[in-house]
Amino acid sequence: MDKKVRNIGVLTSGGDSPGMNAAIRAVVRTGLYHGLGVFGIMRGYAGMIEDDIKEMDGRSVANIIQRGGTILKTARSKDFMEFEGRQKAFANLQKHNIDGLVIIGGDGSFRGAQTFSNEFDIPCIGLPGTIDKDISGSDTTIGFDTAVNTAVQAIDKIRDTMDAHDRLFIVEVMGRDAGYIALHSGIATGAENILIPETKTDMAGMIESLTEKEKRKKLVNLIVVAEGDEFGGSAEVAKYVKEKLPTADVRVCVLGHIQRGGSPTCEDRLVASHMGYYAVESLLLGRKNVMVGVVNNKIHYTPLDKAVKEKQKIGQEWMKIVKILAS
Ligand code: F6P
Repeated sequence: MDKKVRNIGVLTSGGDSPGMNAAIRAVVRTGLYHGLGVFGIMRGYAGMIEDDIKEMDGRSVANIIQRGGTILKTARSKDFMEFEGRQKAFANLQKHNIDGLVIIGGDGSFRGAQTFSNEFDIPCIGLPGTIDKDISGSDTTIGFDTAVNTAVQAIDKIRDTMDAHDRLFIVEVMGRDAGYIALHSGIATGAENILIPETKTDMAGMIESLTEKEKRKKLVNLIVVAEGDEFGGSAEVAKYVKEKLPTADVRVCVLGHIQRGGSPTCEDRLVASHMGYYAVESLLLGRKNVMVGVVNNKIHYTPLDKAVKEKQKIGQEWMKIVKILAS
């Protein structure tokens, strides 16, 4: 029989995402509600190795639900990839009597948690915290909705100036391996073309349709490209377009890290609170090494080793709709 968890640690790891603070708050307050000791581990696995660990109370998470970033800070720890690093980390957890962990991060963080748990028999629960929505086992991830809305607001502003000058704009959004931010923000801002890593980009076809649009004097065109598109990012796309359409007035804008910051949307606060609550409930029920996700509006558990980065199948239908709507 599994021993009952008494003290839990919570950490954020990998790239930050808006809503991580709301998730931390939910974990801390649910843990305290159940009479557990709750410890915040600073800078992800790095803080675990360096014993940068502090006990949290209800007040430690006051006034953070609306804040972007993460009060626990975050890092990508190389030392945790080595057995010696993980051994040190475990010794520090023992020092604080921590016997369960909640890891808020992406697939790299989950892989670390799985290895750690196999070696030291400590239950780990993962919460998907990434703006990219590139984790399997959940319809959304903490931070995705905020990032998309930030991109939409920025692109709307670009559209004003683009329209005033009859320009062709290439806007690059984040998404190293996934095109969800590009797809959602592109559809919502009426982009003529959306380039994502999940589908082979038909550059010749794109130029053909832009040429046809130019002929009928449609000079305002928006291309949204995911940074990880297999053809390349905005710089490569701009070079190609300028070569093929020398008369077009082309400008480039890379939105970059503004998509990672800012106050989380209502949706992200709800998702983070829901998942945070269930992370603690899961530990109390003896669950281990699963990610808490949401599928069809219901909490869904996926083994950590299955909740990996996955190129999700973005429906071809959407690409057809994009073409029709932007004609
Ligand atoms: O994982 C989220 C993400 O924002 C990716 O879309 C992006 O490629 C990467 O993180 C950037 O990471 P860093 O902040 O380390 O440059």
